[in-house]
Amino acid sequence: MASSSDLGLVREKLATARSVVVLTGAGISADSGVPTFRGADGLWRNFRAEDLATPEAFARDPRLVWEWYNWRRELIATKQPNAAHEAVAELERQYSHFWLITQNVDGLHRTAGSHKLSEIHGNIWRVRCTDCRQVVDNHDVPIHILPMCDHCHGLLRPHIVWFGESLTEDDLRQCDAALRSCDLCLIIGTSGVVYPAAGFASIAKEAGAFVAEINLDVTPHTGLVDVSLQGRAKDVVPLLIGS
Ligand code: OAD
Repeated sequence: MASSSDLGLVREKLATARSVVVLTGAGISADSGVPTFRGADGLWRNFRAEDLATPEAFARDPRLVWEWYNWRRELIATKQPNAAHEAVAELERQYSHFWLITQNVDGLHRTAGSHKLSEIHGNIWRVRCTDCRQVVDNHDVPIHILPMCDHCHGLLRPHIVWFGESLTEDDLRQCDAALRSCDLCLIIGTSGVVYPAAGFASIAKEAGAFVAEINLDVTPHTGLVDVSLQGRAKDVVPLLIGS
Protein backbone atom coordinates (compact mmCIF):
# COMPACT_ATOMS: atom_id res chain seq x y z
CA MET A 1 0.00 0.00 0.00
CA ALA A 2 1.16 3.56 -0.68
CA SER A 3 3.15 4.99 2.23
CA SER A 4 1.71 7.96 4.08
CA SER A 5 4.85 10.03 3.38
CA ASP A 6 4.52 9.44 -0.37
CA LEU A 7 0.81 10.25 -0.21
CA GLY A 8 1.66 13.40 1.76
CA LEU A 9 4.22 14.47 -0.83
CA VAL A 10 1.77 14.15 -3.73
CA ARG A 11 -0.88 16.03 -1.74
CA GLU A 12 1.66 18.81 -1.07
CA LYS A 13 2.52 19.02 -4.77
CA LEU A 14 -1.18 19.14 -5.64
CA ALA A 15 -1.69 21.96 -3.15
CA THR A 16 0.81 24.17 -4.98
CA ALA A 17 0.27 22.96 -8.56
CA ARG A 18 -1.16 25.41 -11.07
CA SER A 19 -1.62 23.02 -13.97
CA VAL A 20 -2.51 19.34 -13.63
CA VAL A 21 -2.68 16.50 -16.14
CA VAL A 22 -4.10 13.06 -15.36
CA LEU A 23 -3.48 10.06 -17.62
CA THR A 24 -5.66 7.02 -17.00
CA GLY A 25 -5.79 3.44 -18.23
CA ALA A 26 -7.94 0.37 -17.69
CA GLY A 27 -6.86 0.05 -14.03
CA ILE A 28 -9.04 2.99 -12.97
CA SER A 29 -12.13 1.25 -14.37
CA ALA A 30 -11.12 -2.16 -12.98
CA ASP A 31 -12.55 -1.03 -9.64
CA SER A 32 -15.89 -0.53 -11.40
CA GLY A 33 -15.77 -4.10 -12.71
CA VAL A 34 -14.60 -3.33 -16.26
CA PRO A 35 -11.96 -5.90 -17.30
CA THR A 36 -8.43 -4.67 -18.01
CA PHE A 37 -6.48 -5.82 -21.06
CA ARG A 38 -3.30 -7.37 -19.68
CA GLY A 39 -4.08 -8.55 -16.14
CA ALA A 40 -4.64 -12.19 -15.14
CA ASP A 41 -8.27 -11.89 -16.35
CA GLY A 42 -7.36 -9.29 -18.99
CA LEU A 43 -9.21 -9.24 -22.30
CA TRP A 44 -6.04 -9.93 -24.29
CA ARG A 45 -5.55 -13.14 -22.29
CA ASN A 46 -8.79 -14.53 -23.68
CA PHE A 47 -9.17 -12.81 -27.04
CA ARG A 48 -6.78 -12.15 -29.90
CA ALA A 49 -6.46 -8.43 -30.59
CA GLU A 50 -5.60 -9.14 -34.22
CA ASP A 51 -9.00 -10.85 -34.69
CA LEU A 52 -11.02 -8.09 -33.04
CA ALA A 53 -9.25 -4.76 -32.74
CA THR A 54 -7.59 -4.00 -36.06
CA PRO A 55 -8.95 -2.43 -39.26
CA GLU A 56 -8.03 -5.67 -41.08
CA ALA A 57 -10.12 -7.74 -38.67
CA PHE A 58 -13.12 -5.46 -39.28
CA ALA A 59 -12.68 -5.63 -43.06
CA ARG A 60 -12.47 -9.44 -42.84
CA ASP A 61 -15.36 -10.07 -40.47
CA PRO A 62 -17.32 -6.99 -39.34
CA ARG A 63 -20.00 -9.19 -37.75
CA LEU A 64 -17.50 -10.88 -35.42
CA VAL A 65 -15.98 -7.52 -34.42
CA TRP A 66 -19.42 -6.01 -33.75
CA GLU A 67 -20.42 -9.06 -31.70
CA TRP A 68 -17.37 -8.54 -29.52
CA TYR A 69 -18.14 -4.82 -29.10
CA ASN A 70 -21.75 -5.68 -28.33
CA TRP A 71 -20.58 -8.00 -25.58
CA ARG A 72 -18.39 -5.20 -24.18
CA ARG A 73 -21.23 -2.67 -24.47
CA GLU A 74 -23.51 -5.01 -22.52
CA LEU A 75 -20.88 -5.39 -19.83
CA ILE A 76 -19.93 -1.70 -19.57
CA ALA A 77 -23.58 -0.57 -19.60
CA THR A 78 -24.01 -2.18 -16.16
CA LYS A 79 -20.99 -0.39 -14.62
CA GLN A 80 -20.77 2.87 -12.72
CA PRO A 81 -17.87 5.25 -12.11
CA ASN A 82 -16.01 4.58 -8.85
CA ALA A 83 -14.43 6.88 -6.27
CA ALA A 84 -11.30 7.32 -8.41
CA HIS A 85 -13.27 8.57 -11.45
CA GLU A 86 -15.13 10.91 -9.12
CA ALA A 87 -11.88 12.20 -7.58
CA VAL A 88 -10.49 12.92 -11.06
CA ALA A 89 -13.67 14.87 -11.91
CA GLU A 90 -13.21 16.80 -8.65
CA LEU A 91 -9.63 17.69 -9.64
CA GLU A 92 -10.99 19.24 -12.85
CA ARG A 93 -13.24 21.48 -10.73
CA GLN A 94 -10.31 22.51 -8.51
CA TYR A 95 -7.83 23.59 -11.21
CA SER A 96 -8.42 26.09 -14.00
CA HIS A 97 -5.59 24.45 -15.92
CA PHE A 98 -6.49 20.79 -16.04
CA TRP A 99 -6.53 18.09 -18.68
CA LEU A 100 -7.52 14.43 -18.46
CA ILE A 101 -6.08 12.01 -21.01
CA THR A 102 -7.76 8.63 -20.93
CA GLN A 103 -7.00 5.49 -22.89
CA ASN A 104 -10.33 4.07 -21.73
CA VAL A 105 -13.22 3.80 -24.14
CA ASP A 106 -15.87 3.00 -21.51
CA GLY A 107 -17.07 6.60 -21.04
CA LEU A 108 -17.00 6.31 -17.22
CA HIS A 109 -14.97 9.54 -16.83
CA ARG A 110 -17.71 11.47 -18.63
CA THR A 111 -20.39 9.81 -16.51
CA ALA A 112 -18.42 10.88 -13.41
CA GLY A 113 -18.51 14.50 -14.61
CA SER A 114 -15.19 15.00 -16.42
CA HIS A 115 -15.43 17.44 -19.35
CA LYS A 116 -11.86 18.55 -20.04
CA LEU A 117 -10.64 15.30 -21.51
CA SER A 118 -9.17 13.55 -24.52
CA GLU A 119 -10.46 10.01 -25.03
CA ILE A 120 -7.43 9.16 -27.12
CA HIS A 121 -8.54 5.61 -27.99
CA GLY A 122 -12.12 6.67 -28.75
CA ASN A 123 -15.40 5.85 -27.04
CA ILE A 124 -17.40 2.63 -27.18
CA TRP A 125 -20.64 4.67 -27.19
CA ARG A 126 -19.76 6.35 -30.48
CA VAL A 127 -19.89 4.91 -34.00
CA ARG A 128 -18.28 6.13 -37.20
CA CYS A 129 -19.37 5.61 -40.79
CA THR A 130 -16.78 3.77 -42.85
CA ASP A 131 -17.97 5.73 -45.93
CA CYS A 132 -18.85 9.31 -44.95
CA ARG A 133 -16.83 9.22 -41.65
CA GLN A 134 -19.60 10.90 -39.67
CA VAL A 135 -19.28 10.17 -35.94
CA VAL A 136 -22.46 9.87 -33.87
CA ASP A 137 -23.38 8.84 -30.33
CA ASN A 138 -25.03 5.43 -30.10
CA HIS A 139 -26.03 3.88 -26.77
CA ASP A 140 -27.95 0.89 -28.15
CA VAL A 141 -27.46 -2.27 -26.11
CA PRO A 142 -27.32 -4.45 -28.05
CA ILE A 143 -26.52 -2.50 -31.17
CA HIS A 144 -28.14 -3.82 -34.35
CA ILE A 145 -25.64 -5.94 -36.31
CA LEU A 146 -24.56 -4.79 -38.89
CA PRO A 147 -25.37 -1.14 -38.10
CA MET A 148 -25.82 1.34 -40.96
CA CYS A 149 -25.23 5.07 -41.22
CA ASP A 150 -28.48 7.15 -41.11
CA HIS A 151 -26.87 9.65 -43.41
CA CYS A 152 -25.39 7.57 -46.27
CA HIS A 153 -26.26 3.93 -45.39
CA GLY A 154 -22.57 3.04 -45.15
CA LEU A 155 -21.41 0.41 -42.65
CA LEU A 156 -20.80 1.80 -39.16
CA ARG A 157 -17.77 0.80 -37.11
CA PRO A 158 -16.91 1.41 -33.46
CA HIS A 159 -15.32 4.86 -32.98
CA ILE A 160 -12.24 3.24 -31.45
CA VAL A 161 -8.57 3.61 -32.29
CA TRP A 162 -7.54 0.08 -33.19
CA PHE A 163 -4.06 -1.42 -33.35
CA GLY A 164 -2.29 -0.09 -36.42
CA GLU A 165 -4.33 3.14 -36.40
CA SER A 166 -3.19 6.59 -35.33
CA LEU A 167 -4.54 8.95 -32.73
CA THR A 168 -6.17 12.05 -34.19
CA GLU A 169 -3.90 15.03 -34.83
CA ASP A 170 -6.13 17.14 -32.56
CA ASP A 171 -5.78 14.72 -29.65
CA LEU A 172 -2.03 14.45 -30.11
CA ARG A 173 -1.63 18.24 -30.20
CA GLN A 174 -3.89 18.79 -27.21
CA CYS A 175 -2.17 16.09 -25.11
CA ASP A 176 1.31 17.27 -26.02
CA ALA A 177 0.51 20.87 -25.09
CA ALA A 178 -1.07 19.82 -21.77
CA LEU A 179 1.85 17.52 -20.86
CA ARG A 180 4.48 20.14 -21.68
CA SER A 181 2.80 22.85 -19.64
CA CYS A 182 1.65 20.94 -16.54
CA ASP A 183 3.52 21.08 -13.26
CA LEU A 184 1.93 17.91 -11.89
CA CYS A 185 1.02 14.73 -13.74
CA LEU A 186 -0.80 11.70 -12.29
CA ILE A 187 -0.56 8.39 -14.15
CA ILE A 188 -3.36 6.10 -12.97
CA GLY A 189 -3.88 2.41 -13.75
CA THR A 190 -2.03 1.93 -17.02
CA SER A 191 0.51 -0.75 -17.88
CA GLY A 192 2.47 1.83 -19.86
CA VAL A 193 3.15 -0.38 -22.86
CA VAL A 194 0.90 1.08 -25.57
CA TYR A 195 2.30 4.09 -27.42
CA PRO A 196 1.96 6.97 -27.73
CA ALA A 197 0.37 7.12 -24.24
CA ALA A 198 3.27 5.06 -22.85
CA GLY A 199 5.56 8.00 -23.65
CA PHE A 200 3.40 10.68 -22.00
CA ALA A 201 4.93 10.38 -18.51
CA SER A 202 8.38 11.03 -19.98
CA ILE A 203 7.16 14.12 -21.84
CA ALA A 204 5.75 15.60 -18.62
CA LYS A 205 8.87 14.65 -16.64
CA GLU A 206 11.27 16.12 -19.20
CA ALA A 207 9.22 19.31 -19.25
CA GLY A 208 9.80 19.61 -15.49
CA ALA A 209 6.55 18.29 -14.01
CA PHE A 210 6.31 16.28 -10.80
CA VAL A 211 5.00 12.89 -11.92
CA ALA A 212 3.24 10.35 -9.68
CA GLU A 213 1.97 6.92 -10.59
CA ILE A 214 -0.92 5.08 -8.96
CA ASN A 215 -1.00 1.38 -9.83
CA LEU A 216 -1.45 -2.02 -8.23
CA ASP A 217 1.86 -3.17 -9.74
CA VAL A 218 5.27 -2.05 -10.86
CA THR A 219 5.19 -0.77 -14.47
CA PRO A 220 7.70 0.63 -16.97
CA HIS A 221 6.79 4.07 -15.54
CA THR A 222 7.78 3.17 -11.99
CA GLY A 223 11.48 3.86 -12.50
CA LEU A 224 11.00 7.29 -14.01
CA VAL A 225 8.26 8.84 -11.89
CA ASP A 226 8.92 10.90 -8.75
CA VAL A 227 6.55 8.86 -6.61
CA SER A 228 4.91 5.52 -7.18
CA LEU A 229 1.84 4.85 -5.04
CA GLN A 230 0.91 1.19 -4.99
CA GLY A 231 -2.71 0.36 -4.40
CA ARG A 232 -6.17 0.33 -5.92
CA ALA A 233 -7.10 3.50 -7.77
CA LYS A 234 -10.44 3.72 -5.92
CA ASP A 235 -8.62 3.70 -2.55
CA VAL A 236 -5.59 5.88 -3.38
CA VAL A 237 -6.85 8.62 -5.72
CA PRO A 238 -9.54 9.98 -3.33
CA LEU A 239 -6.85 10.28 -0.62
CA LEU A 240 -4.88 12.64 -2.85
CA ILE A 241 -7.62 15.21 -3.13
CA GLY A 242 -9.00 14.75 0.39
CA SER A 243 -10.30 18.04 1.76
P1 OAD B 1 -3.72 -2.69 -19.24
O1 OAD B 1 -4.70 -3.79 -19.05
O2 OAD B 1 -2.58 -2.92 -20.14
O3 OAD B 1 -3.10 -2.28 -17.83
C1 OAD B 1 -3.92 -2.04 -16.72
C2 OAD B 1 -3.04 -1.53 -15.59
O4 OAD B 1 -3.86 -1.20 -14.50
C3 OAD B 1 -1.98 -2.53 -15.09
O5 OAD B 1 -0.74 -1.87 -14.94
C4 OAD B 1 -2.54 -2.96 -13.72
O6 OAD B 1 -1.49 -3.23 -12.79
C5 OAD B 1 -3.29 -1.73 -13.30
N1 OAD B 1 -4.43 -1.99 -12.40
C6 OAD B 1 -5.31 -3.03 -12.43
N2 OAD B 1 -6.26 -2.87 -11.51
C7 OAD B 1 -5.98 -1.71 -10.87
C8 OAD B 1 -6.61 -0.99 -9.81
N3 OAD B 1 -7.73 -1.44 -9.21
N4 OAD B 1 -6.05 0.18 -9.41
C9 OAD B 1 -4.91 0.64 -9.99
N5 OAD B 1 -4.28 0.01 -11.00
C10 OAD B 1 -4.81 -1.15 -11.44
O7 OAD B 1 -4.56 -1.38 -19.66
P2 OAD B 1 -4.05 -0.05 -20.37
O8 OAD B 1 -2.72 0.36 -19.87
O9 OAD B 1 -5.16 0.92 -20.25
O10 OAD B 1 -6.25 -0.04 -26.33
O11 OAD B 1 -3.93 -0.53 -21.87
C11 OAD B 1 -3.62 0.40 -22.87
C12 OAD B 1 -4.40 0.09 -24.12
O12 OAD B 1 -4.16 -1.27 -24.51
C13 OAD B 1 -5.91 0.17 -23.96
O13 OAD B 1 -6.41 1.47 -24.11
C14 OAD B 1 -6.40 -0.71 -25.07
C15 OAD B 1 -5.41 -1.86 -24.93
O14 OAD B 1 -5.20 -2.58 -26.09
C16 OAD B 1 -7.32 0.09 -27.13
O15 OAD B 1 -8.42 -0.33 -26.86
C17 OAD B 1 -7.03 0.81 -28.40
